[in-house]
Amino acid sequence: MTPARAPPATEEGAGWRRAGRRFACPLLVRQFPPELPFGFLARVAPPSSPVDVLLEANRLPPGRALELVHGARSVADAELGVGGAGGATSELEVERRSADELGRALASRSQELWRVGVRWVAAGPSRPRAEAERLRLAERLAALGFRSRVPRYEVAEALAPPGDPGARRPSGYWQTLTTDGLAAFYPFGDEAVLQPGGVLVGLSLSDASPVFLDRWAQASHSWGIFGTTGAGKSFAAALTVLRTRWMRPEAEVLILDPLGEYGGLVRRLGGTVVRLRDAEAGRLNPLDPATTGGDRREKAGRVATMLRALWPSLRDEEAAALDAAVSRLYAGGTGEPTLGALADELGVAGPPVERLRGLFELFRTGSLRGCNGPTTLRVDAPVVSVDLAGLPEEQLPFHLTYLLDWAYHRLAERRGPKLLLLDEAHLLARHPGTTEFLDRSVRHLRHFGAGLLLLTQDPEDLLATPSGRAVLRNLSACAFLRLAEVSAACRSFFGLTETEAEWLTKARLPVDAGYAESLWRLGPWHLPLAIVASTPEFELVSEALREKDGGEAADPLPGPPPSPGADDPG
Ligand SMILES: Nc1ncnc2c1ncn2[C@@H]1O[C@H](COP(=O)(O)OP(=O)(O)OP(=O)(O)O)[C@@H](O)[C@H]1O
Ligand SMILES: [Mg+2]
Repeated sequence: MTPARAPPATEEGAGWRRAGRRFACPLLVRQFPPELPFGFLARVAPPSSPVDVLLEANRLPPGRALELVHGARSVADAELGVGGAGGATSELEVERRSADELGRALASRSQELWRVGVRWVAAGPSRPRAEAERLRLAERLAALGFRSRVPRYEVAEALAPPGDPGARRPSGYWQTLTTDGLAAFYPFGDEAVLQPGGVLVGLSLSDASPVFLDRWAQASHSWGIFGTTGAGKSFAAALTVLRTRWMRPEAEVLILDPLGEYGGLVRRLGGTVVRLRDAEAGRLNPLDPATTGGDRREKAGRVATMLRALWPSLRDEEAAALDAAVSRLYAGGTGEPTLGALADELGVAGPPVERLRGLFELFRTGSLRGCNGPTTLRVDAPVVSVDLAGLPEEQLPFHLTYLLDWAYHRLAERRGPKLLLLDEAHLLARHPGTTEFLDRSVRHLRHFGAGLLLLTQDPEDLLATPSGRAVLRNLSACAFLRLAEVSAACRSFFGLTETEAEWLTKARLPVDAGYAESLWRLGPWHLPLAIVASTPEFELVSEALREKDGGEAADPLPGPPPSPGADDPG
Protein backbone atom coordinates (compact mmCIF):
# COMPACT_ATOMS: atom_id res chain seq x y z
CA MET A 1 0.00 0.00 0.00
CA THR A 2 1.41 3.39 -0.94
CA PRO A 3 0.96 6.16 1.64
CA ALA A 4 -1.32 9.09 0.57
CA ARG A 5 0.82 11.97 -0.65
CA ALA A 6 0.30 15.31 1.11
CA PRO A 7 -0.80 18.10 -1.31
CA PRO A 8 1.94 20.61 -2.18
CA ALA A 9 2.21 23.58 0.19
CA THR A 10 1.40 26.05 -2.57
CA GLU A 11 -0.37 25.71 -5.85
CA GLU A 12 -1.25 28.17 -8.59
CA GLY A 13 -3.81 28.20 -11.39
CA ALA A 14 -5.34 30.68 -13.83
CA GLY A 15 -6.21 33.66 -11.63
CA TRP A 16 -5.66 32.06 -8.17
CA ARG A 17 -3.05 30.78 -5.76
CA ARG A 18 -3.35 28.47 -2.78
CA ALA A 19 -1.02 28.63 0.20
CA GLY A 20 -1.87 25.94 2.74
CA ARG A 21 -5.63 26.05 3.02
CA ARG A 22 -6.04 29.62 1.96
CA PHE A 23 -6.97 30.55 -1.59
CA ALA A 24 -6.03 34.01 -2.84
CA CYS A 25 -7.64 35.60 -5.91
CA PRO A 26 -5.99 38.86 -7.02
CA LEU A 27 -7.76 41.67 -8.83
CA LEU A 28 -6.10 44.65 -10.52
CA VAL A 29 -7.30 48.10 -11.55
CA ARG A 30 -7.38 48.67 -15.30
CA GLN A 31 -8.74 52.22 -15.07
CA PHE A 32 -9.50 54.57 -12.20
CA PRO A 33 -12.75 56.54 -12.12
CA PRO A 34 -12.40 60.25 -12.98
CA GLU A 35 -13.03 61.08 -9.32
CA LEU A 36 -12.29 59.02 -6.25
CA PRO A 37 -14.90 59.55 -3.55
CA PHE A 38 -13.53 60.03 -0.03
CA GLY A 39 -13.58 57.03 2.23
CA PHE A 40 -14.35 54.74 -0.70
CA LEU A 41 -11.98 52.08 0.58
CA ALA A 42 -14.25 51.33 3.50
CA ARG A 43 -17.08 50.65 1.05
CA VAL A 44 -15.01 48.52 -1.34
CA ALA A 45 -13.13 46.52 1.25
CA PRO A 46 -14.90 46.88 4.61
CA PRO A 47 -12.97 45.46 7.56
CA SER A 48 -15.51 42.61 7.73
CA SER A 49 -14.73 41.39 4.19
CA PRO A 50 -11.89 38.91 3.45
CA VAL A 51 -10.24 41.38 1.09
CA ASP A 52 -6.73 42.79 1.37
CA VAL A 53 -5.52 45.79 -0.52
CA LEU A 54 -1.94 46.64 -1.33
CA LEU A 55 -1.07 50.12 -2.52
CA GLU A 56 2.36 51.06 -3.86
CA ALA A 57 3.08 54.71 -4.63
CA ASN A 58 6.21 56.42 -5.94
CA ARG A 59 6.38 60.16 -6.37
CA LEU A 60 7.24 61.30 -9.90
CA PRO A 61 10.00 63.92 -10.08
CA PRO A 62 8.36 67.35 -10.65
CA GLY A 63 10.00 67.78 -14.09
CA ARG A 64 8.65 64.43 -15.31
CA ALA A 65 5.19 65.23 -13.89
CA LEU A 66 5.03 68.54 -15.77
CA GLU A 67 6.16 66.79 -18.96
CA LEU A 68 3.30 64.33 -18.64
CA VAL A 69 0.73 67.06 -18.12
CA HIS A 70 2.03 69.12 -21.03
CA GLY A 71 1.90 65.98 -23.17
CA ALA A 72 -1.77 65.44 -22.25
CA ARG A 73 -2.55 69.06 -23.04
CA SER A 74 -0.84 68.89 -26.44
CA VAL A 75 -2.87 65.82 -27.35
CA ALA A 76 -6.11 67.62 -26.43
CA ASP A 77 -4.95 70.73 -28.33
CA ALA A 78 -4.08 68.72 -31.43
CA GLU A 79 -7.42 66.91 -31.43
CA LEU A 80 -9.33 70.15 -30.89
CA GLY A 81 -7.31 71.75 -33.71
CA VAL A 82 -8.15 68.96 -36.17
CA GLY A 83 -11.83 69.70 -35.55
CA GLY A 84 -14.53 67.27 -36.50
CA ALA A 85 -14.48 65.99 -32.92
CA GLY A 86 -18.24 66.61 -32.86
CA GLY A 87 -19.79 65.87 -29.49
CA ALA A 88 -16.33 65.07 -28.13
CA THR A 89 -15.26 68.73 -28.38
CA SER A 90 -16.56 69.72 -24.97
CA GLU A 91 -14.93 66.65 -23.43
CA LEU A 92 -11.61 67.60 -25.00
CA GLU A 93 -12.02 71.12 -23.71
CA VAL A 94 -12.62 69.81 -20.22
CA GLU A 95 -9.48 67.69 -20.61
CA ARG A 96 -7.49 70.67 -21.75
CA ARG A 97 -8.77 72.79 -18.90
CA SER A 98 -8.03 70.15 -16.30
CA ALA A 99 -4.52 69.69 -17.75
CA ASP A 100 -4.03 73.45 -17.34
CA GLU A 101 -5.32 73.39 -13.78
CA LEU A 102 -3.15 70.44 -12.90
CA GLY A 103 -0.13 72.14 -14.51
CA ARG A 104 -0.68 75.15 -12.25
CA ALA A 105 -1.16 72.96 -9.19
CA LEU A 106 2.08 71.11 -9.97
CA ALA A 107 3.95 74.36 -10.48
CA SER A 108 2.73 75.70 -7.13
CA ARG A 109 3.46 72.32 -5.50
CA SER A 110 -0.10 72.02 -4.16
CA GLN A 111 -0.33 68.71 -6.08
CA GLU A 112 2.17 66.13 -7.20
CA LEU A 113 1.92 63.14 -9.49
CA TRP A 114 2.38 59.62 -8.23
CA ARG A 115 3.03 56.32 -9.94
CA VAL A 116 0.54 54.13 -8.16
CA GLY A 117 -0.09 50.39 -8.25
CA VAL A 118 -3.04 48.78 -6.48
CA ARG A 119 -3.93 45.17 -6.08
CA TRP A 120 -6.84 43.70 -4.26
CA VAL A 121 -6.77 40.12 -3.02
CA ALA A 122 -9.95 38.24 -2.15
CA ALA A 123 -9.34 35.25 0.12
CA GLY A 124 -11.33 32.15 1.02
CA PRO A 125 -11.02 28.63 2.39
CA SER A 126 -11.88 27.18 -1.07
CA ARG A 127 -11.34 28.28 -4.63
CA PRO A 128 -15.05 28.88 -5.37
CA ARG A 129 -15.43 30.92 -2.17
CA ALA A 130 -12.41 33.11 -2.94
CA GLU A 131 -13.50 33.56 -6.57
CA ALA A 132 -17.03 34.51 -5.53
CA GLU A 133 -15.58 37.04 -3.09
CA ARG A 134 -13.49 38.50 -5.92
CA LEU A 135 -16.55 38.78 -8.14
CA ARG A 136 -18.41 40.74 -5.46
CA LEU A 137 -15.37 42.96 -5.01
CA ALA A 138 -15.25 43.64 -8.77
CA GLU A 139 -18.94 44.59 -8.67
CA ARG A 140 -18.39 47.03 -5.79
CA LEU A 141 -15.48 48.59 -7.67
CA ALA A 142 -17.50 48.85 -10.89
CA ALA A 143 -20.25 50.65 -9.00
CA LEU A 144 -17.70 53.35 -8.13
CA GLY A 145 -16.52 53.63 -11.73
CA PHE A 146 -13.37 51.47 -11.47
CA ARG A 147 -12.58 49.09 -14.30
CA SER A 148 -10.85 46.02 -12.95
CA ARG A 149 -9.29 42.90 -14.41
CA VAL A 150 -8.29 39.43 -13.21
CA PRO A 151 -4.58 38.79 -13.84
CA ARG A 152 -5.25 35.30 -15.17
CA TYR A 153 -1.72 34.37 -16.21
CA GLU A 154 0.19 36.86 -14.05
CA VAL A 155 -0.80 35.66 -10.60
CA ALA A 156 2.81 35.44 -9.36
CA GLU A 157 3.58 38.99 -10.51
CA ALA A 158 0.34 40.30 -9.06
CA LEU A 159 0.96 38.66 -5.68
CA ALA A 160 4.70 39.45 -5.46
CA PRO A 161 5.48 41.20 -2.18
CA PRO A 162 5.87 44.98 -2.29
CA GLY A 163 9.04 46.94 -1.82
CA ASP A 164 11.18 45.28 -4.51
CA PRO A 165 11.75 47.96 -7.16
CA GLY A 166 13.11 45.34 -9.58
CA ALA A 167 10.08 43.01 -9.25
CA ARG A 168 8.04 42.54 -12.41
CA ARG A 169 4.45 43.75 -12.08
CA PRO A 170 1.58 42.71 -14.35
CA SER A 171 1.05 44.81 -17.45
CA GLY A 172 -1.05 47.96 -16.87
CA TYR A 173 -0.41 47.72 -13.11
CA TRP A 174 1.13 51.17 -12.76
CA GLN A 175 -1.14 54.20 -13.15
CA THR A 176 -0.67 57.92 -12.56
CA LEU A 177 -2.61 59.68 -9.80
CA THR A 178 -2.51 63.16 -8.28
CA THR A 179 -1.89 63.70 -4.58
CA ASP A 180 -5.64 64.17 -4.03
CA GLY A 181 -6.38 60.91 -5.85
CA LEU A 182 -3.83 59.09 -3.76
CA ALA A 183 -5.14 60.71 -0.56
CA ALA A 184 -8.60 59.29 -1.28
CA PHE A 185 -7.12 55.84 -0.62
CA TYR A 186 -6.26 56.61 2.96
CA PRO A 187 -8.95 55.43 5.32
CA PHE A 188 -7.46 57.28 8.29
CA GLY A 189 -8.01 54.10 10.25
CA ASP A 190 -4.79 54.33 12.17
CA GLU A 191 -3.98 57.96 11.54
CA ALA A 192 -6.72 59.07 13.83
CA VAL A 193 -4.95 62.01 15.41
CA LEU A 194 -4.25 64.57 12.75
CA GLN A 195 -2.99 67.29 15.05
CA PRO A 196 -2.01 66.14 18.51
CA GLY A 197 -2.95 68.62 21.22
CA GLY A 198 -5.97 69.80 19.23
CA VAL A 199 -9.63 69.42 20.09
CA LEU A 200 -11.72 66.43 19.14
CA VAL A 201 -13.75 67.50 16.12
CA GLY A 202 -15.38 64.18 15.30
CA LEU A 203 -15.19 60.45 14.77
CA SER A 204 -14.40 59.06 11.36
CA LEU A 205 -17.61 57.81 9.75
CA SER A 206 -15.80 54.78 8.34
CA ASP A 207 -14.16 53.37 11.46
CA ALA A 208 -15.01 55.69 14.37
CA SER A 209 -11.41 56.73 14.88
CA PRO A 210 -11.20 60.14 16.57
CA VAL A 211 -9.87 63.17 14.71
CA PHE A 212 -8.25 66.05 16.57
CA LEU A 213 -7.48 69.44 15.05
CA ASP A 214 -5.44 72.25 16.51
CA ARG A 215 -6.39 75.60 14.99
CA TRP A 216 -3.31 77.22 16.48
CA ALA A 217 -1.07 74.79 14.60
CA GLN A 218 -2.63 75.91 11.32
CA ALA A 219 -1.51 78.87 9.21
CA SER A 220 -4.89 80.55 9.66
CA HIS A 221 -6.61 79.83 12.97
CA SER A 222 -10.06 80.37 11.45
CA TRP A 223 -12.61 77.70 10.61
CA GLY A 224 -16.06 77.70 9.02
CA ILE A 225 -19.11 75.57 9.76
CA PHE A 226 -21.85 75.39 7.14
CA GLY A 227 -25.15 73.58 7.21
CA THR A 228 -28.82 73.93 6.69
CA THR A 229 -31.08 74.88 9.59
CA GLY A 230 -31.04 72.20 12.28
CA ALA A 231 -27.89 70.57 10.87
CA GLY A 232 -26.06 71.21 14.14
CA LYS A 233 -23.84 74.26 13.50
CA SER A 234 -24.49 76.05 16.77
CA PHE A 235 -24.16 72.78 18.68
CA ALA A 236 -20.86 71.98 16.95
CA ALA A 237 -19.62 75.50 17.70
CA ALA A 238 -20.63 75.25 21.36
CA LEU A 239 -18.90 71.86 21.59
CA THR A 240 -15.78 73.38 20.03
CA VAL A 241 -15.80 76.23 22.56
CA LEU A 242 -16.22 73.78 25.42
CA ARG A 243 -13.44 71.49 24.21
CA THR A 244 -11.17 74.42 23.41
CA ARG A 245 -11.50 75.68 26.97
CA TRP A 246 -10.71 72.20 28.27
CA MET A 247 -7.62 71.79 26.14
CA ARG A 248 -6.46 75.41 26.43
CA PRO A 249 -7.88 76.92 29.63
CA GLU A 250 -5.96 80.11 28.85
CA ALA A 251 -7.84 80.55 25.52
CA GLU A 252 -10.20 83.53 25.57
CA VAL A 253 -13.53 83.24 23.83
CA LEU A 254 -15.64 86.03 22.41
CA ILE A 255 -19.02 85.23 20.89
CA LEU A 256 -21.07 87.51 18.63
CA ASP A 257 -24.47 85.95 19.13
CA PRO A 258 -27.26 87.34 16.91
CA LEU A 259 -29.89 84.93 18.23
CA GLY A 260 -28.86 85.01 21.87
CA GLU A 261 -28.27 81.24 21.97
CA TYR A 262 -24.92 81.02 23.71
CA GLY A 263 -25.70 82.83 26.99
CA GLY A 264 -26.27 79.56 28.86
CA LEU A 265 -22.96 78.15 27.69
CA VAL A 266 -21.07 81.33 28.53
CA ARG A 267 -22.54 81.43 32.04
CA ARG A 268 -21.65 77.76 32.55
CA LEU A 269 -18.08 78.58 31.56
CA GLY A 270 -17.98 81.37 34.13
CA GLY A 271 -18.17 84.11 31.51
CA THR A 272 -20.13 87.31 31.00
CA VAL A 273 -23.13 87.83 28.74
CA VAL A 274 -23.59 91.35 27.39
CA ARG A 275 -27.17 91.94 26.29
CA LEU A 276 -27.12 94.72 23.77
CA ARG A 277 -30.75 95.71 24.21
CA ASP A 278 -30.23 95.98 27.93
CA ALA A 279 -29.03 99.50 28.83
CA GLU A 280 -27.76 98.38 32.23
CA ALA A 281 -25.04 96.26 30.64
CA GLY A 282 -23.31 99.46 29.59
CA ARG A 283 -22.98 101.07 26.21
CA LEU A 284 -20.69 100.23 23.32
CA ASN A 285 -20.41 103.41 21.30
CA PRO A 286 -20.38 102.41 17.61
CA LEU A 287 -18.26 105.51 16.92
CA ASP A 288 -15.64 104.91 19.61
CA PRO A 289 -12.18 105.40 17.98
CA ALA A 290 -10.65 103.21 20.69
CA THR A 291 -11.95 100.22 18.68
CA THR A 292 -9.45 101.02 15.95
CA GLY A 293 -6.67 101.62 18.45
CA GLY A 294 -7.25 105.37 18.23
CA ASP A 295 -6.90 105.51 14.45
CA ARG A 296 -9.59 108.09 13.67
CA ARG A 297 -9.32 107.91 9.88
CA GLU A 298 -9.71 104.14 9.94
CA LYS A 299 -12.69 104.47 12.26
CA ALA A 300 -14.31 107.09 10.03
CA GLY A 301 -14.23 104.57 7.14
CA ARG A 302 -15.87 101.89 9.28
CA VAL A 303 -18.57 104.28 10.45
CA ALA A 304 -19.53 105.06 6.87
CA THR A 305 -19.70 101.28 6.16
CA MET A 306 -21.87 100.46 9.16
CA LEU A 307 -24.33 103.27 8.50
CA ARG A 308 -24.71 102.17 4.89
CA ALA A 309 -25.41 98.66 6.16
CA LEU A 310 -28.13 100.17 8.33
CA TRP A 311 -29.59 102.28 5.52
CA PRO A 312 -28.93 100.34 2.31
CA SER A 313 -31.32 102.57 0.34
CA LEU A 314 -29.26 105.76 0.83
CA ARG A 315 -29.06 107.72 -2.41
CA ASP A 316 -25.62 108.73 -3.72
CA GLU A 317 -25.97 112.35 -2.66
CA GLU A 318 -27.15 111.30 0.81
CA ALA A 319 -24.24 108.87 1.19
CA ALA A 320 -21.85 111.63 0.09
CA ALA A 321 -23.28 114.10 2.61
CA LEU A 322 -23.02 111.46 5.33
CA ASP A 323 -19.40 110.60 4.42
CA ALA A 324 -18.48 114.27 4.52
CA ALA A 325 -20.07 114.72 7.95
CA VAL A 326 -18.26 111.62 9.27
CA SER A 327 -14.92 112.93 7.97
CA ARG A 328 -15.46 116.35 9.58
CA LEU A 329 -16.43 114.77 12.87
CA TYR A 330 -13.28 112.63 13.10
CA ALA A 331 -10.95 115.28 11.69
CA GLY A 332 -11.92 117.85 14.30
CA GLY A 333 -10.75 117.24 17.85
CA THR A 334 -9.53 114.24 19.79
CA GLY A 335 -12.60 113.31 21.80
CA GLU A 336 -14.95 110.35 21.44
CA PRO A 337 -17.53 111.16 18.73
CA THR A 338 -21.12 110.07 19.27
CA LEU A 339 -24.01 109.49 16.91
CA GLY A 340 -25.75 112.60 18.27
CA ALA A 341 -22.67 114.65 17.46
CA LEU A 342 -22.65 113.15 13.98
CA ALA A 343 -26.28 114.20 13.49
CA ASP A 344 -25.30 117.75 14.48
CA GLU A 345 -22.37 117.61 12.06
CA LEU A 346 -24.76 117.01 9.16
CA GLY A 347 -25.69 120.71 9.20
CA VAL A 348 -28.94 121.99 7.80
CA ALA A 349 -28.28 122.57 4.11
CA GLY A 350 -30.18 120.88 1.28
CA PRO A 351 -32.72 118.08 0.79
CA PRO A 352 -30.27 115.10 1.11
CA VAL A 353 -29.42 116.28 4.60
CA GLU A 354 -33.10 116.67 5.38
CA ARG A 355 -33.77 112.96 4.96
CA LEU A 356 -30.55 112.00 6.77
CA ARG A 357 -31.56 114.11 9.73
CA GLY A 358 -34.81 112.19 9.78
CA LEU A 359 -32.95 108.88 9.73
CA PHE A 360 -30.73 110.00 12.61
CA GLU A 361 -33.81 110.38 14.80
CA LEU A 362 -33.38 106.60 15.22
CA PHE A 363 -30.37 107.40 17.43
CA ARG A 364 -31.91 110.35 19.23
CA THR A 365 -35.38 109.18 20.07
CA GLY A 366 -35.85 105.87 18.19
CA SER A 367 -34.93 102.23 18.82
CA LEU A 368 -31.19 102.85 18.56
CA ARG A 369 -31.02 105.66 21.12
CA GLY A 370 -29.11 103.28 23.42
CA CYS A 371 -26.14 103.55 21.04
CA ASN A 372 -25.94 107.32 21.32
CA GLY A 373 -23.24 108.23 23.81
CA PRO A 374 -19.72 107.31 24.85
CA THR A 375 -18.67 103.74 25.64
CA THR A 376 -19.37 102.71 29.21
CA LEU A 377 -19.17 98.92 28.87
CA ARG A 378 -16.29 97.23 30.67
CA VAL A 379 -15.97 93.45 30.59
CA ASP A 380 -12.99 91.51 31.68
CA ALA A 381 -14.11 87.86 31.71
CA PRO A 382 -12.16 85.38 29.58
CA VAL A 383 -15.40 84.16 27.99
CA VAL A 384 -17.80 86.84 26.77
CA SER A 385 -20.82 86.79 24.51
CA VAL A 386 -22.66 89.73 23.06
CA ASP A 387 -26.31 88.83 22.78
CA LEU A 388 -28.26 90.61 20.05
CA ALA A 389 -31.56 88.82 20.59
CA GLY A 390 -34.63 91.02 20.49
CA LEU A 391 -33.12 93.65 18.19
CA PRO A 392 -34.83 94.27 14.84
CA GLU A 393 -33.33 91.99 12.21
CA GLU A 394 -32.64 94.79 9.75
CA GLN A 395 -30.40 96.44 12.34
CA LEU A 396 -28.25 93.36 12.96
CA PRO A 397 -25.65 94.00 10.19
CA PHE A 398 -25.10 97.49 11.68
CA HIS A 399 -24.59 96.12 15.20
CA LEU A 400 -22.37 93.28 14.01
CA THR A 401 -20.12 95.69 12.12
CA TYR A 402 -19.14 97.82 15.10
CA LEU A 403 -19.12 94.74 17.34
CA LEU A 404 -16.62 93.09 15.00
CA ASP A 405 -14.50 96.24 15.28
CA TRP A 406 -14.74 96.13 19.05
CA ALA A 407 -14.04 92.38 19.16
CA TYR A 408 -11.07 92.72 16.83
CA HIS A 409 -9.47 95.41 18.91
CA ARG A 410 -10.17 93.60 22.15
CA LEU A 411 -8.58 90.40 20.84
CA ALA A 412 -5.61 92.26 19.39
CA GLU A 413 -4.86 93.77 22.79
CA ARG A 414 -4.92 90.53 24.74
CA ARG A 415 -2.22 87.90 24.99
CA GLY A 416 -2.51 84.16 24.37
CA PRO A 417 -4.80 82.13 22.11
CA LYS A 418 -8.22 83.58 21.33
CA LEU A 419 -11.34 82.38 19.61
CA LEU A 420 -14.01 84.61 18.08
CA LEU A 421 -17.30 82.92 17.27
CA LEU A 422 -19.59 84.57 14.75
CA ASP A 423 -22.93 82.83 14.23
CA GLU A 424 -25.35 83.81 11.43
CA ALA A 425 -22.44 85.28 9.45
CA HIS A 426 -24.74 85.75 6.44
CA LEU A 427 -25.90 88.94 8.16
CA LEU A 428 -22.50 90.46 7.39
CA ALA A 429 -22.45 88.99 3.88
CA ARG A 430 -25.50 91.02 2.84
CA HIS A 431 -23.54 94.19 2.16
CA PRO A 432 -20.29 94.44 0.20
CA GLY A 433 -18.84 96.90 2.75
CA THR A 434 -19.42 94.66 5.75
CA THR A 435 -18.16 91.57 3.87
CA GLU A 436 -14.97 93.47 3.06
CA PHE A 437 -14.60 94.33 6.68
CA LEU A 438 -15.10 90.69 7.70
CA ASP A 439 -12.45 89.69 5.16
CA ARG A 440 -9.94 92.16 6.59
CA SER A 441 -10.60 90.94 10.12
CA VAL A 442 -10.17 87.27 9.21
CA ARG A 443 -6.93 88.00 7.42
CA HIS A 444 -5.38 89.78 10.39
CA LEU A 445 -6.76 87.82 13.34
CA ARG A 446 -3.99 85.25 13.14
CA HIS A 447 -1.33 87.93 13.66
CA PHE A 448 -2.29 88.03 17.30
CA GLY A 449 -3.16 84.39 17.88
CA ALA A 450 -6.88 84.74 17.27
CA GLY A 451 -9.08 82.52 15.14
CA LEU A 452 -12.61 82.98 13.88
CA LEU A 453 -15.25 80.30 14.00
CA LEU A 454 -17.69 81.41 11.33
CA LEU A 455 -21.13 79.85 11.06
CA THR A 456 -23.63 80.26 8.30
CA GLN A 457 -26.26 78.11 6.62
CA ASP A 458 -25.03 78.27 3.07
CA PRO A 459 -21.47 78.85 1.81
CA GLU A 460 -23.13 80.55 -1.20
CA ASP A 461 -23.75 83.53 1.10
CA LEU A 462 -20.05 84.25 0.90
CA LEU A 463 -19.25 82.83 -2.53
CA ALA A 464 -21.19 85.62 -4.23
CA THR A 465 -18.63 88.40 -3.66
CA PRO A 466 -14.82 88.66 -4.01
CA SER A 467 -14.42 89.58 -0.32
CA GLY A 468 -16.70 86.71 0.67
CA ARG A 469 -14.55 84.31 -1.32
CA ALA A 470 -11.45 85.76 0.31
CA VAL A 471 -13.01 85.07 3.72
CA LEU A 472 -13.61 81.44 2.70
CA ARG A 473 -10.08 81.06 1.37
CA ASN A 474 -8.71 82.15 4.72
CA LEU A 475 -10.51 79.41 6.64
CA SER A 476 -8.03 76.61 7.31
CA ALA A 477 -10.81 74.10 8.01
CA CYS A 478 -14.37 73.98 6.74
CA ALA A 479 -16.97 71.66 8.17
CA PHE A 480 -19.93 71.00 5.91
CA LEU A 481 -22.98 69.59 7.61
CA ARG A 482 -26.16 68.75 5.70
CA LEU A 483 -26.60 71.31 2.92
CA ALA A 484 -29.86 71.98 1.11
CA GLU A 485 -27.96 71.96 -2.17
CA VAL A 486 -24.40 72.24 -3.43
CA SER A 487 -24.02 74.37 -6.53
CA ALA A 488 -21.41 73.71 -9.21
CA ALA A 489 -19.65 76.92 -8.12
CA CYS A 490 -19.53 75.70 -4.54
CA ARG A 491 -18.24 72.26 -5.58
CA SER A 492 -15.50 73.76 -7.66
CA PHE A 493 -14.51 76.38 -5.05
CA PHE A 494 -14.08 73.80 -2.31
CA GLY A 495 -12.84 71.02 -4.63
CA LEU A 496 -15.67 68.69 -3.63
CA THR A 497 -16.30 65.65 -5.79
CA GLU A 498 -19.73 64.98 -7.21
CA THR A 499 -20.17 62.11 -4.78
CA GLU A 500 -19.27 64.33 -1.84
CA ALA A 501 -21.65 67.07 -2.98
CA GLU A 502 -24.45 64.59 -3.38
CA TRP A 503 -23.71 63.00 -0.02
CA LEU A 504 -23.83 66.40 1.71
CA THR A 505 -27.42 66.93 0.65
CA LYS A 506 -28.29 63.65 2.38
CA ALA A 507 -25.97 63.81 5.38
CA ARG A 508 -27.83 62.64 8.46
CA LEU A 509 -29.26 65.25 10.78
CA PRO A 510 -28.85 65.16 14.55
CA VAL A 511 -32.61 64.93 15.00
CA ASP A 512 -32.50 61.54 13.22
CA ALA A 513 -29.05 60.23 14.05
CA GLY A 514 -28.32 61.70 17.50
CA TYR A 515 -25.11 63.15 16.01
CA ALA A 516 -24.33 65.33 13.01
CA GLU A 517 -22.81 63.85 9.87
CA SER A 518 -20.24 66.18 8.36
CA LEU A 519 -17.47 66.48 5.84
CA TRP A 520 -14.39 68.33 7.03
CA ARG A 521 -12.19 69.91 4.45
CA LEU A 522 -8.71 70.60 5.68
CA GLY A 523 -6.23 71.40 2.92
CA PRO A 524 -6.16 68.32 0.69
CA TRP A 525 -7.95 66.18 3.27
CA HIS A 526 -11.67 65.54 3.05
CA LEU A 527 -12.75 63.77 6.21
CA PRO A 528 -16.26 62.41 6.69
CA LEU A 529 -16.82 62.73 10.43
CA ALA A 530 -19.60 62.26 12.92
CA ILE A 531 -19.81 65.21 15.29
CA VAL A 532 -20.62 63.38 18.48
CA ALA A 533 -20.91 64.63 22.03
CA SER A 534 -20.32 62.46 25.08
CA THR A 535 -23.35 62.20 27.40
CA PRO A 536 -22.17 64.91 29.82
CA GLU A 537 -21.22 67.16 26.91
CA PHE A 538 -24.57 66.60 25.26
CA GLU A 539 -26.45 67.42 28.46
CA LEU A 540 -24.43 70.56 29.05
CA VAL A 541 -24.51 71.87 25.48
CA SER A 542 -28.10 71.05 24.57
CA GLU A 543 -29.43 72.50 27.84
CA ALA A 544 -27.21 75.55 27.53
CA LEU A 545 -28.30 76.26 23.96
CA ARG A 546 -31.97 75.88 24.79
CA GLU A 547 -31.73 78.32 27.64
CA LYS A 548 -32.38 81.92 26.76
CA ASP A 549 -32.31 84.68 29.36
CA GLY A 550 -34.33 83.37 32.24
CA GLY A 551 -34.26 79.85 30.83
CA GLU A 552 -36.84 80.03 28.03
CA ALA A 553 -36.21 78.40 24.68
CA ALA A 554 -34.52 80.62 22.11
CA ASP A 555 -36.75 82.19 19.47
CA PRO A 556 -35.93 82.16 15.79
CA LEU A 557 -35.09 85.48 14.12
CA PRO A 558 -38.24 87.55 13.78
CA GLY A 559 -39.82 88.34 10.46
CA PRO A 560 -38.73 88.31 6.81
CA PRO A 561 -35.78 90.40 5.53
CA PRO A 562 -36.58 94.11 5.39
CA SER A 563 -38.07 95.63 2.29
CA PRO A 564 -35.99 98.30 0.52
CA GLY A 565 -37.80 101.14 2.23
CA ALA A 566 -37.62 99.62 5.70
CA ASP A 567 -34.87 101.97 6.79
CA ASP A 568 -37.08 105.02 6.56
CA PRO A 569 -38.08 106.24 9.97
CA GLY A 570 -41.65 106.47 11.11
N1 LIG B 1 -23.79 66.72 17.19
C1 LIG B 1 -24.99 66.69 17.76
N2 LIG B 1 -25.32 65.69 18.61
C2 LIG B 1 -26.54 65.67 19.19
N3 LIG B 1 -27.49 66.61 19.00
C3 LIG B 1 -27.21 67.63 18.18
C4 LIG B 1 -25.94 67.71 17.52
N4 LIG B 1 -25.96 68.81 16.76
C5 LIG B 1 -27.15 69.39 16.93
N5 LIG B 1 -27.90 68.69 17.78
C6 LIG B 1 -29.29 69.04 18.16
O1 LIG B 1 -29.99 69.36 16.96
C7 LIG B 1 -30.74 70.57 17.08
C8 LIG B 1 -30.33 71.60 16.05
O2 LIG B 1 -28.99 71.94 16.22
P1 LIG B 1 -28.42 73.43 16.05
O3 LIG B 1 -29.26 74.40 16.76
O4 LIG B 1 -26.99 73.37 16.42
O5 LIG B 1 -28.62 73.62 14.48
P2 LIG B 1 -28.11 74.83 13.58
O6 LIG B 1 -27.40 74.23 12.42
O7 LIG B 1 -27.36 75.81 14.38
O8 LIG B 1 -29.47 75.44 13.03
P3 LIG B 1 -29.84 76.98 12.68
O9 LIG B 1 -29.28 77.26 11.31
O10 LIG B 1 -31.32 76.98 12.66
O11 LIG B 1 -29.24 77.87 13.71
C9 LIG B 1 -30.54 71.03 18.52
O12 LIG B 1 -31.63 70.61 19.27
C10 LIG B 1 -29.28 70.32 18.97
O13 LIG B 1 -29.31 70.06 20.36
MG1 LIG C 1 -27.65 77.83 14.88
